[in-house]
Amino acid sequence: MCGIVGYVGTKEVTPILLDGLTRLEYRGYDSAGIAISAGDELVVRKTKGRLAVLKDLVQGDTGVSGNVGIGHTRWATHGEPNDVNSHPQESRSGKFVVVHNGVIDNYLELKNKLLRHGYEFISETDTEVIAHLIEYYYKGDILDTLIRVQNKLEGSYALGVLCADAPDQITVIRKDSPLIIGECPHGKIMASDIPAMLKYTRDFYELGEKETAVLTKDSITFYDINKEELQKDTFHVDWDIDAAEKGGFEHFMMKEITEQPRAVTDTISPHIRDGKVFFEDLPLGFDKFYITACGSAYHAGIIGKNIIQQLARISVETELASEFRYANPIITENTLVIIVSQSGETADSLAALRYAKDKGAATLAIVNVVGSSIAKEADYVIFTNAGPEIAVATTKAYSCQLAVFYLLAIHLGTERGTIDAEHAARLLDELKEIPAKIEKILGDKEQVQFLASRHYAAKDVFFIGRGLDYAAGLEASLKLKEISYIHSEAYAAGELKHGTIALIEKDSLVVAIATSEKLFDKLMSNVMVVKARGAQVLGLTWEGNGIESTCDFALYIPKTEDVFTPSLSIIPLQLFSYYVASMRGLDIDKPRNLAKSVTIE
Ligand code: M6R
Repeated sequence: MCGIVGYVGTKEVTPILLDGLTRLEYRGYDSAGIAISAGDELVVRKTKGRLAVLKDLVQGDTGVSGNVGIGHTRWATHGEPNDVNSHPQESRSGKFVVVHNGVIDNYLELKNKLLRHGYEFISETDTEVIAHLIEYYYKGDILDTLIRVQNKLEGSYALGVLCADAPDQITVIRKDSPLIIGECPHGKIMASDIPAMLKYTRDFYELGEKETAVLTKDSITFYDINKEELQKDTFHVDWDIDAAEKGGFEHFMMKEITEQPRAVTDTISPHIRDGKVFFEDLPLGFDKFYITACGSAYHAGIIGKNIIQQLARISVETELASEFRYANPIITENTLVIIVSQSGETADSLAALRYAKDKGAATLAIVNVVGSSIAKEADYVIFTNAGPEIAVATTKAYSCQLAVFYLLAIHLGTERGTIDAEHAARLLDELKEIPAKIEKILGDKEQVQFLASRHYAAKDVFFIGRGLDYAAGLEASLKLKEISYIHSEAYAAGELKHGTIALIEKDSLVVAIATSEKLFDKLMSNVMVVKARGAQVLGLTWEGNGIESTCDFALYIPKTEDVFTPSLSIIPLQLFSYYVASMRGLDIDKPRNLAKSVTIE
């Protein structure tokens, strides 16, 4: 996730762009840049680092003066954060300059085509491909060209484009990434998000899917994919700037929960080609995996172990990163150690990575932050494209980690022949449906809110499940305790009787995660046992599997293949934790004693 901004009007553009980018920095902050239309040339200034570095760079720079410009604050996806990979990206002749928020899935294919036509690339970004592609198709009309280029792009994009031949306009185009346009008394403004524009206007247009708009000082003209002109109405926003940064939500955590469908799509789509999973350069000849990580990333790893073993029949061990180097793991040259981390900076995970490399293992990092230490030091990296996660309690990064494990398991299973092509295709089809199913769960928050209102004063909460449901319970339990401060434990349901059942008393809340058809009956027996000790049971199962007669309360998720249930069951449980913490009046985004990135061992 990145932030883009653009302005055309009568005011000096640089302060407006920098101000807008300041408001978008929450969307990405590893590098930033601006491009200004200055007569018949386009002037670009960009740099690695936070926006403050860019502000210092352009301070007193007389070259960046004008009334038309675009800006970008980056959250790296393709290529590490450095000056060259920063946006804006320029075309070969410098006639076109582009800022981009999104991920181009087919950028390699397009890049190869352009390479064959003699184009050279200086960055590792997917955006440079767009800049060159515009130049390749340009025949004198930037609007026609962008509409044509749009047909070649797969993935998500919101683009702001400057063309030296049309120095008084900005052309914007989008699909699956947001782009809002505002009308202010002295010109027109556009951005990825409303906060960047609130200082200038409160009335906005939303650019629709695959629509294009041309912004000049005096006009905004909208076009559909066939270049038919569109009429649009504005919408009005009353939010204050702080609320706007959170997209109108009260907390970043809720904003990030609702971003999960997009984040999962952006994570899986770059690795799906021609109906198959694809990973560039990822070797296969390993006979043993370790998965090591901390906190929620470790919980994702437990699910990863289960599904890789099920689908690819490779032996996988999970180990907490803080324990890995003391556990004397058995590592050979055929061992792959997978390190999972949102931040890529967690000290214990980094230490586990270094230990594994030292012992001769190959290492694969599943990381959200491009350019982070773990991403740089691992032999292979798969990025979760969740975008910046600000709330301490992870939600969207965790969901994306699961998505990567599904891709890996399907890929390995196919390559090793442990699942046949038909099975792999069925799983992949279902994986592609997961974002829509998450969206469906998010569309029905009221029931979760109601249940939270019944239980927010609980002293202890137990999550029980079997197999993947148990693994999902570990994450649900961590979510609840870290933001609500309620004592909570997750237990493999069959293990309760070996001790923990002693803690169950009248009105203890037990959340029974029962999404596996195979294990459903067994789990219901465990439910009967805790109910007999007076527990109140909240059952979570698939739609159509009425459990009101067995459980005191019920939550439902859409039906999916058993292996994918953790991606769905966690969503209402994230919401449950959120609402419980909210009803307890707690600081949800910054829970006590915790930090977003734990850089001490
Ligand atoms: O950045 P990482 O994924 O390496 O962080 C690992 C844990 O610190 C993290 O998942 C932590 O458990 C979260 N606060 C859970 O919500």
